[in-house]
Amino acid sequence: MSSHGDPIPMISRSSGPLTGAAHVPGDKSISHRSLILGALAVGETTVTGLLEGQDVLDTAAAMRAFGAEVGKRGDTWHIHGVGVGGFAEPEQVIDCGNSGTGVRLIMGAMATSPIAATFTGDASLNSRPMARVTDPLALFGARAYGRAGGRLPMTIMGTQDPLPVRYTTPVPSAQVKSAVLLAGLNAPGETVVIEREATRDHSERMLAGFGASITSEQSEEGRVITLKGQPELRPQAITVPRDPSSAAFPVCAALICEGSDVLVPNIGLNPTRAGLFFTLQEMGADLTFEDMREEGGEPVADLRARFSPDLAGIEVPPERAASMIDEYPVLSVVAAFAKGKTHMPGVKELRVKESDRIDAMASGLRAAGVAVDEGEDWWSVHGEGFGRVKGGVTAASHLDHRIAMSFLILGLATQEPMRVDDGGPIATSFPIFETLMNGLGAEISRES
Ligand code: S3P
Repeated sequence: MSSHGDPIPMISRSSGPLTGAAHVPGDKSISHRSLILGALAVGETTVTGLLEGQDVLDTAAAMRAFGAEVGKRGDTWHIHGVGVGGFAEPEQVIDCGNSGTGVRLIMGAMATSPIAATFTGDASLNSRPMARVTDPLALFGARAYGRAGGRLPMTIMGTQDPLPVRYTTPVPSAQVKSAVLLAGLNAPGETVVIEREATRDHSERMLAGFGASITSEQSEEGRVITLKGQPELRPQAITVPRDPSSAAFPVCAALICEGSDVLVPNIGLNPTRAGLFFTLQEMGADLTFEDMREEGGEPVADLRARFSPDLAGIEVPPERAASMIDEYPVLSVVAAFAKGKTHMPGVKELRVKESDRIDAMASGLRAAGVAVDEGEDWWSVHGEGFGRVKGGVTAASHLDHRIAMSFLILGLATQEPMRVDDGGPIATSFPIFETLMNGLGAEISRES
């Protein structure tokens, strides 16, 4: 919701050992897509393990506004879809809260129907660039009327006579790719998206699961994804896997808290999402993948993370950026406790997330006593080594859940407690963060 409540100041103190099992919530990306594709199928889709964070609840409300029935009985969400091209025109403004994924995917899904919808969000979302989505949607025939710089609030006039589109994404973005594919669902003929760098492929996998004809192949131009328009999507029974981006927090906390041994079960290791875990292993983390298996077509494992006092800074390969884009903030925290420099190039996209994540992390880390260098599309953290980070400051979360959680993880191993000015945004993606972390032995609390 855009009416974010009063700030919730939070504090974390030196903790450990962290022990036990951390059952993190469902995957945010897959949860949004389950609701949107369920709303576009004919008949009833069921979803278990849906992330009930505010971002996803806002997408559920949006799907109701476009005419789908969405509700929960017991542990299962039921979505009665209206079919591709069946969206009704919403009567009210669609409030996507803090969620870039929600708004961008929904814009794509409605842009090739003859309806209008006005979108808004919170201060963070209303400052983020939308032209990256409205530019390709214009090629289908949709029109966008927003604020200067392509910002929300914005009205999209969907088109009655969509044209199929061939589009090369100018930035590595699964949200842009997915918006184009969802728009392509109601266009005749074939819609083609080409991405030079592979981004998370949940939309492609799930569209195929819902019965769309979609292919993906590697060419000299990059990954070429071809979707046949106007399919009848078949409803599905979806079990949402647990979110690797949420798993990152207890995993990284275990690495930096003395004596820790934490199991994070059932985490998807889809190669388009798992870059952080390989990076941590390269830094010398005691992180293992146990019981590697396949579930619902995705590689899954239980992650086991133990205290790792001898981490070393590394060069993170830029071609890995898309597969760990949401994890750089918490990686920078681990890097602060490693010895030497961790250099993170090729990460310009971090500047247009829920906040400018390079700027937000660099400011708080510097205040906590860690040296950070940065350029437009890179940053380096100069690690102090275990036990040598001072802390003792209040970091600004900038309405960004991952910034708030990252600084609270930092404070679990700093000499003095770390505070964040507002932990409220954590509820967008990881509502049980505080309970889960404290259940492992962390000392994280709210300050009155
Ligand atoms: C997401 C894609 C990523 C990621 C976001 C979720 C998705 O954004 O940062 O948290 O579900 O498609 P971009 O595609 O803009 O990089």
